[in-house]
Amino acid sequence: MSNALKQYLNFCQDRVEKALETRLPNEKILPQKLHKAMRYCVLDGGKRMRPMLTYATANTLGINPDAVDGIACAVEFIHVYSLIHDDLPAMDDDDLRRGKPTCHVAFDEATAILTGDALQALAFEVLAHDATISASAESRLLMITTLAKASGSQGMVGGQAIDLESVGTQLNLPELENMHIHKTGALIRASVTMATLAKNNIEPAIATRLDHYAKCIGLSFQVKDDILDEESDTVTLGKTQGKDKENAKPTYPALLGMAGAKQKAQELHEKAIDNLAVFGSEADLLRDLSLYIIQRDH
Ligand code: IPE
Ligand code: IPE
Ligand code: MG
Ligand code: MG
Ligand code: MG
Repeated sequence: MSNALKQYLNFCQDRVEKALETRLPNEKILPQKLHKAMRYCVLDGGKRMRPMLTYATANTLGINPDAVDGIACAVEFIHVYSLIHDDLPAMDDDDLRRGKPTCHVAFDEATAILTGDALQALAFEVLAHDATISASAESRLLMITTLAKASGSQGMVGGQAIDLESVGTQLNLPELENMHIHKTGALIRASVTMATLAKNNIEPAIATRLDHYAKCIGLSFQVKDDILDEESDTVTLGKTQGKDKENAKPTYPALLGMAGAKQKAQELHEKAIDNLAVFGSEADLLRDLSLYIIQRDH
């Protein structure tokens, strides 16, 4: 990872940690168990890639990070909710997440379901009401629509439905790509799109280039997630290694072989970079991020 990216990653992680903390209900407020579970799952964990993409896109467009804290939190709340439900026994049945027992293990299944539900609602409350989001009411509505579509049956939840239907079957490449674009790509894309919506009068051509960049890295992110599930180890990942094989999930390494999956990730990275050609050094963080996504070890 480049030094600039490492510094920026630390900056974003600290920044979003504080922003998340202040937006989560205090665990002394009733119902305490639910609020405790929300804080347990959201705080102090994860790479915060989606918030970082929001901040880095804002940075590229010259937007102050203060104006996108709420957006970064909203997308992370949806992401954490998706992880909590993804780990449930009815789905991937995982007991380790971000190096800690999963929500349904640390608490119980009903609490895990409700924690996800509550985080999803909180994401939209933040987008609708957060005073730090300086965008116009019209832009806010577009942000809400963007996140709702990216999260719903034609976005992340739709991708998760395909994932579960596909257990034990063999998908072809377009089918696998479609599943990954939905279950993971949609939210990553929304992290970038919502930041572009925070920019007044953004040139449509610029927004389109950033959107295409985000589409590429959204897919490369899940290709790399599949690779890591096979190649990494449980301690480094903070989640149980080898679960995809155990659960008979269709993955990129399963379909293309490990070398083919790595080649695919590299191609997507190059395509992502091509889409940033209209920018100068102001998009270097986005370039570094794309590379980090395919080179990361967890
Ligand atoms: C894991 O996402 C689930 C996928 C969508 C691939 P991350 O790898 O971003 O998980 P955290 O947020 O760092 O824990
Ligand atoms: C999950 O994909 C995508 C989500 C919407 C949460 P995975 O099931 O591969 O994510 P991990 O490997 O459990 O983090
Ligand atoms: Mg899953
Ligand atoms: Mg999973
Ligand atoms: Mg995975």
